[in-house]
Amino acid sequence: MHPSSGPAWLVWLETSGLAAAMREWLWLYPAVEIVHIVGFVVLVGAAFMFDLRLLGLAPRLPVSGMADHLLRWARWSLVLIVPSGALMFTAHATEMASNPAFRLKLGLIAAAFLNAAVFHRVPFRSVADWDTDVTAPAAAKAAGGLSLLLWTGVIACGRLLAYL
Ligand code: HEM
Repeated sequence: MHPSSGPAWLVWLETSGLAAAMREWLWLYPAVEIVHIVGFVVLVGAAFMFDLRLLGLAPRLPVSGMADHLLRWARWSLVLIVPSGALMFTAHATEMASNPAFRLKLGLIAAAFLNAAVFHRVPFRSVADWDTDVTAPAAAKAAGGLSLLLWTGVIACGRLLAYL
């Protein structure tokens, strides 16, 4: 491990007993990483399936029904993703905080949630008009396309953390 240097709270986090356990217990880090992976597979998988529906695939499936099912699972997946991500961050807090891939990843996650929030407040309000067998409005398609790009970027940055 590289020497701890950086803001005091990050050094405190990285030198905590929890961080030491994450680094030293053989199976702990990989187990937490598996939880992280299962979580983001559910989140990104659900988001992708919903986005593809917005872009016009499977037009017979009601958008409202898909939102009800998939987006519920996407929200619950955060219970796995956030604590496991925070635990892995703790193990190498000072290094992670200065890693450009980590900063970009958090920025892209924020952008993806903002995109989802705007989608729900604007085009999704009129979903009854384009629920089944109708092309989604341009704003909904744009949100779906942007979501595909942003989540792909998050996955890429997550994977790059180990290399940068
Ligand atoms: C919300 C959606 C998220 C997605 C899609 C995501 C995606 C990923 C991916 C693809 C990896 C690489 C896994 C591997 O190579 O085995 C990863 C690792 C990691 N993620 Fe996330 N992540 C998310 C959220 C978070 C959050 C909120 C945090 C921090 C609070 C975080 C912190 C980390 C850390 C520290 C690693 C470990 C890197 C390593 O050990 O090399 N992630 N994530």
